[in-house]
Parts: sequence; structure tokens; C-alpha cells
Amino acid sequence: MADHSTPSQSVAEFDAEQPHDLWRTLRGTCPVSRVSDGGAMVRPTYIVSTWAGAKQVLLDPETFSSSINAEGTARFMGPVLLGMDGERHRSRRQLISHAFRASQLARWEETLIRPIITALCDSIAHRGSAELMEELISRFPVQVICGMCAIPSQDSPRFLQWAKDIHRGMRDEGMGRAAAEAMRIYLEPLVEARRRERGDDLISDIVHAEVDGERLDDEEVFGFLRLLLPAGSESTYRAIGSALLAILSTPGLYARVMQDRSILPSIVEETLRWDVSNSMVSRVVTRDTLIEGCPVPAGAGLRVVTNSANRDEKRFAQSDTFDLERPAKPHIGFGLGPHQCLGQPLARMEMRVGLDVMLARLNNLSLDPAHPSPVVAGASFRGPPKLHVLFEKA
Ligand code: HEM
Repeated sequence: MADHSTPSQSVAEFDAEQPHDLWRTLRGTCPVSRVSDGGAMVRPTYIVSTWAGAKQVLLDPETFSSSINAEGTARFMGPVLLGMDGERHRSRRQLISHAFRASQLARWEETLIRPIITALCDSIAHRGSAELMEELISRFPVQVICGMCAIPSQDSPRFLQWAKDIHRGMRDEGMGRAAAEAMRIYLEPLVEARRRERGDDLISDIVHAEVDGERLDDEEVFGFLRLLLPAGSESTYRAIGSALLAILSTPGLYARVMQDRSILPSIVEETLRWDVSNSMVSRVVTRDTLIEGCPVPAGAGLRVVTNSANRDEKRFAQSDTFDLERPAKPHIGFGLGPHQCLGQPLARMEMRVGLDVMLARLNNLSLDPAHPSPVVAGASFRGPPKLHVLFEKA
């Protein structure tokens, strides 16, 4: 099947820090476009940019396999859900999903999530100004995951570093491997202890989870815990940054949310539609096929740009605008189909509670005019790199 029948984009264009213009052009001209890389990529790779294309791919796991997600990282991550297909994925996901149900998570809201973000706010409240991404927001979700796993809070900086190193391990295998091994050494005695005696924490939930007499083995437990950190912290903190930037830069929105906190869930959903932090997901094509009428050959890699699908003008009018009044329609910021984000109830809770507490504890919050206006940036992962703010000293 000819793979040159679709227009192509260079890797540099595709990896640009501000890709929305490119994605808009692709949606309007060609929903499936080849990334031209001068032969550097291990396989031909295509970008899927539209709502219809993304939906088709994510809802057909037989034609579009997730095994590509295990290729680069499997050597140091161990078995991870993201890279599994079919029955193996279904049974492993079922074992873990119990621990992530909204009803299970409710217990963490007041005992863990609110106290953690409150303490982080209080640590800067006396200063009157801060760069929130580095000093506060990036520290929040990783502390929550550590707390859920009953890991002492003083060790959370190590987990933040491991999460970053595992994330970078896609490009630097040595770094990913070292972080994965260090995590295993740290976690091994904890996992053993929770096997012996069940506690009220996530590691206990995972090691004791049982469906049809089956449990996760040690390698699977470590693989899952390694995935949890980057999956749970990197995406969530960026999403909180984008939501706060939307609040502080959309005319009238800060005043409105200070009057009426019940709009926070809508702010969270519109952020996840407007500029979701996890921009794209990957698949590999298992048989020659058509996506929205465009041919893609077996063996090709796909980058399904969920962030672009969420701005598809055919589904969301005025899609570039952050608009709380738009008719409520589901977005695919958390993906779709069998791999749809397992942590979405937790991510939503952290975003809502995190914003609520920051707005309450940092009085008269505004963007600091002494710094360039912040913007959401990034290709695969998006969020404001910096968020310099002013507030009243406590
Ligand atoms: C705003 C924050 C988040 C975003 C935008 C996000 C996005 C996504 C997306 C798009 C997928 C699907 C990947 C695919 O189809 O290949 C996914 C999967 C996953 N996410 Fe999230 N995620 C977020 C937060 C979290 C959190 C807080 C956790 C857990 C602590 C988490 C755990 C997972 C796991 C375990 C999977 C794999 C599910 C599977 O393969 O069956 N995520 N996420």
C-alpha cells in the first residue's frame, strides 16, 4: 500500500513547542499525515489529528495495537498496562482498576489531597510572589501518590526525580534503567511487608487484588508502580498549571470562580478539552487499513493527537477558545477505549481540590507582570513551563 499518498510533516515541525497551528492545518487538509524523518525512525509514522480519526483508532484495538508502548521502555519498566493488548490487558487492568474507582478514592480527598496542597501553599504564602510550577504545582501529585502508597513524605523528592528520569528514559535508556532499579530497591521491602500484612494504602490494594483467583506477580507490581509515577504526576501537574493559567488569563474568570466554586468541575473539563497535558497516544497498525479514507500500512506507527481531536471544529465550535458556556460534550483528554486513563477520577479530584485550595490560600492571585505572559507549551506533554504569580502576603 502506498504510504506516500498522504502529505508529510517534518519531525521538527511535529515536535514544535506550539503545535496548535500545525494541528489545525492538518485537521483541515489531511486527517492522517506522515512524519518525514529522513529515515531516522524505526518505522513509518503517521499523525492522526481529527476527532473521527482518533475515535476510529482508539476504539479498534485489534487493528491498532498498544504494543508500541512497551517497545522503548519495556527493557527497564517491566510489564506495563499501557503496552498490553487483548485478554492480558483486560485481566491485568481489572486487577488494578478496583483501587482507582472514584468510590475508593473518596477517602483520600480530605485525609491526603487537601492537606498536601494546603501545606504546599502555606510554605510560600508569606512571600507574596512565586513561580508556582516549580515551587508548588509539580510537587503536589507526586506527594499524593507517595501518600496513597504510604511512602514517607520526606522521600517524595526522590520519587519526583525518578518520575522525571523514567519519563526521560524514552530518550535516554541508561537514565530510565537507573531510576527503575532504584525504585525497585526502595519499594521491594514495602511490597513484601504489605503482602505479609495488608494496610490501608494503594500498594496493599494492588498486591492483594484478586480476580478469579489471580493476583499480580512481583514484576507486574513493580511495573505498575513504575508506570504510576510518571503517568500520575507528570500529566496531572501540567494540567493543573494550564487550568490555573486559564483562570488567571480569561477575562472575568478569576472573579467568577472566587464567587462560585461550583464552576471548578467545568473549569477542569474545559481545560482537559482545550489543552490537555498528555497531547497524544501511540499505536502500531497490525494490518493494512484506511483511517478516514487515508491508507496506512501494516507496521506503521501512529501518533493519535488527542489534544488536536479535542479542538476539531466539527465537534467543538470556536475550539481554540477556553469557554465554560460551550455545550457539554465528552472530550478525549483521557483517551478512549480499553486503555482510557485509569487514573482519571484521581486526576479530576487533584485538579479540583488543588485549584480550590490555591485560590483560597493565595489571596488576590494574579499573573506577575514583571515576567513574560505565560503560555501553555510543549508537543507530547503540554503545560505552562513557568507560572510567575503575585498574591497578598499571609
Ligand atoms: C490530567 C492528567 C492525566 C491525563 C491527561 C492522562 C491521560 C491519559 C491517557 C490519554 C491515557 C491513555 C493512553 C493510551 O491510550 O495509550 C492514560 C492512561 C493511563 N493513565 Fe492517565 N492521565 C492523567 C492522570 C493519571 C493519573 C493521576 C494516573 C494514576 C495515578 C494515571 C494513570 C494511568 C494509567 C495506569 C494508564 C494506563 C491505562 C491502560 O493502559 O489501561 N493517569 N492516561
